[in-house]
Amino acid sequence: MLRYGMIGTGMMGSEHILSLRNIDNVEITAVVDPSEISLSLAKAMLGDKSERVQYFKTTKELVDSNLCDVVVVVTPNMTHEDVMEELLGRDIHILVEKPLSVSVESCRRILDRAKAHKKILWVGLEYRYMPAINQGLKIINSEDFGSTKMISITEHRYPFLPKVNDWNRFEKNTGGTLVEKCCHFFDLMALISKSEPTKVYATGAQDVNHLDESYNGLVPDILDNAYVLVDFENGVRACLDLCMFAEGSKDEQQISVVSDKSKIEIKIPSNLIFLGDRKTGQKGVKTLEAEPDTRIKYQGFHHGSTFLEHLDLIEAIETGSYAKVDLLSGIRSVAIGAAAELSVKTGKAVGIDKDYNLSIL
Ligand SMILES: NC(=O)c1ccc[n+]([C@@H]2O[C@H](COP(=O)([O-])OP(=O)(O)OC[C@H]3O[C@@H](n4cnc5c(N)ncnc54)[C@H](O)[C@@H]3O)[C@@H](O)[C@H]2O)c1
Repeated sequence: MLRYGMIGTGMMGSEHILSLRNIDNVEITAVVDPSEISLSLAKAMLGDKSERVQYFKTTKELVDSNLCDVVVVVTPNMTHEDVMEELLGRDIHILVEKPLSVSVESCRRILDRAKAHKKILWVGLEYRYMPAINQGLKIINSEDFGSTKMISITEHRYPFLPKVNDWNRFEKNTGGTLVEKCCHFFDLMALISKSEPTKVYATGAQDVNHLDESYNGLVPDILDNAYVLVDFENGVRACLDLCMFAEGSKDEQQISVVSDKSKIEIKIPSNLIFLGDRKTGQKGVKTLEAEPDTRIKYQGFHHGSTFLEHLDLIEAIETGSYAKVDLLSGIRSVAIGAAAELSVKTGKAVGIDKDYNLSIL
């Protein structure tokens, strides 16, 4: 039995609990969350197992209990650094939810402390595990696809949902929309381009959402739409089109990748993949239905990707392997998001150096 501790049991914590409950040879032994409402939610998700779980007030108490081999950090973004501080260097595997933290500086402090950590450190950038995306990545990585030149990702969706204590309404807590939400897409861009980001230009605003809300007299300050352009070192260029007042969309995410030979389009949740090439043109475009991954026993809000991410993490633990989604993916995806937020504010392009330092160009 692999023993899991849950740190934070709100919306995403529940998805982790239900994923883990559907995996053999895994048990949740410890939970910490200061919110009584979230704790009752966790108990409901744990069902008949909830009485065998120990509930703690702090992360330190949870780690000191020695009840866990693995912990999952699913707390608000602005708490990740402090929570990680309690965990790093301890004899425990860690899965920390995205974004790794709210700024590049904070991520770098985590990376510095992580040098002394001997166990697996995994960042929850799980979009790459969505079956349609995973299948698309295999095609893009095949020799036949050719050399990738352009990546375009569109996310047109509903506004941010309410969260415990409304933490996601303010940039200081989240890092900003382009960090909080879009780190997933910047991670995919880096994965597909197989390169490092060098320059970002973005334009965006808060035009529609949350403008009539007020929390202790403060109106939310998070972007609800943006275009972000990202240049990669190897010449690949990428574009994100984000709109968070687009409930009327057929697909929430659309990813297009064009190489010197081919083009692929991935549609979610339609789970369709269109694949064409320059030789056969429009007539030759094939429509593929993404094959369901039969290993998925719990879909959650993310098409089973959290479940698959846990299977991979468990395999890495059992085989003594490494984190497939590591801290570098964590800091890189935050750096692109933070650069985009800075570009929106300044109206200037923002450079990213090889250590992920940002500079206004
Ligand atoms: N990978 C994804 O697709 C995905 C999706 C949603 C959220 N997330 C991430 O998961 C994290 C949590 O988001 P959520 O949607 O579950 O938020 P939430 O508000 O629903 O839940 C957060 C929980 O953490 C608890 N908490 C706060 N401080 C804590 C601490 N110091 N120790 C323990 N618990 C603490 C809160 O009481 C709350 O119950 C965020 O980092 C978010 O970005 C990731």
